[in-house]
Amino acid sequence: MTTSSDPALDTLFIPFKTGMLPWPSAHVLFLRARLGNSMLDPSFKNIICEQTFKPDAEPLIAAGFNVVNSTDAETYPLIMVLLPRQREEARALLAQAVRLTQPGGQVIACLSNSEGARSGESDMEKLVGPVSSLSKHKCRVFWSAPLTTQVNKALLDEWSALDAPRPICDGRFISRPGLFAWNRIDRASQLLATHLPANLSGHAADLGAGFGYLSVEALRRCANITAIDLYEAEARALTLATVNLREYNEHRTLGFHWHDVTQGIPPRYDVIITNPPFHTQSRADRPDIGKRFITVAAAALRPEGQLWLVANRHLPYEDILTSSFSHIRTVAQEDGFKIIAATKTGSSGPSQTAPRRIHR
Ligand SMILES: C[S@@+](CC[C@H](N)C(=O)[O-])C[C@H]1O[C@@H](n2cnc3c(N)ncnc32)[C@H](O)[C@@H]1O
Repeated sequence: MTTSSDPALDTLFIPFKTGMLPWPSAHVLFLRARLGNSMLDPSFKNIICEQTFKPDAEPLIAAGFNVVNSTDAETYPLIMVLLPRQREEARALLAQAVRLTQPGGQVIACLSNSEGARSGESDMEKLVGPVSSLSKHKCRVFWSAPLTTQVNKALLDEWSALDAPRPICDGRFISRPGLFAWNRIDRASQLLATHLPANLSGHAADLGAGFGYLSVEALRRCANITAIDLYEAEARALTLATVNLREYNEHRTLGFHWHDVTQGIPPRYDVIITNPPFHTQSRADRPDIGKRFITVAAAALRPEGQLWLVANRHLPYEDILTSSFSHIRTVAQEDGFKIIAATKTGSSGPSQTAPRRIHR
């Protein structure tokens, strides 16, 4: 099996590869685990992986790892963590790692320099006292001494609660740190919502649904949408979407899918709405993901179905839209975003009067 290079993952394993730290014989817990060459090294056995982001979870499962979505029952002699860049989420994860460590066990974490490695290391120090560290591949790995009595209990309690779900936007939604635009309505999504025509109808899908904002807006504005499927790769977001859409449960059919949209979705939709991701979780630009969302949407729409999409104006989606749809209309361009409506065929679609080209 070949895997692509993952500098943070490779750096995380250096202290074990160089003999600075022993590899335990008992099970090791790896929070936010990703697959990479180091994971396939037979010296590192008995790893239990926690991963809520489907595109990262699937390769681990395919490689035979035990992947879990939550981890609060057992304790371990070693907890490894690939920390996220969002500070509250990262602190909560460090606190979780410390809570799940057996007496005398260790926590080891890694972060790339550009995502806040220094802050991560100083946070671990605040929680568990002096740490050891090394830098490589523009990343930093840092680890605690064997944990005995040095843990700052007050900070542990405080940080454990930092990424708890909470009401946002005057209680309209429940969200939590680390999710996309976690504490606000994303401006691009808000623009798309305001342009959704009230006459959209039938079975809808929301690709990359996050905590459910666009789906809620589609159901609120379009009385004839009878069912909506939310597809979202991040399980922590999807779980909250089920709460945020609860009021629509009685009269509409709701589907919640922990799913990597780039793998395709069933071909049964009248409407697809999306604010597609265009970078990875580490913020590296990946317009190919947005392009793939457009191809998947085209394949999943019924012949007269409509795609409603919002994107940053600079994103190069025009070619893929033109090759996937026959009728394309730029509905609006505001605040650096473009709202696009597209259909494959038909006369009742969004571009009844629009030419086949995108207006710029
Ligand atoms: C730009 S955000 C939009 C979120 C939400 N629809 C909104 O408007 O607030 C894109 C969402 O796609 C999700 N995502 C990223 N990659 C994905 C994939 N391969 N499959 C499904 N969802 C993905 C992200 O977790 C994120 O929630």
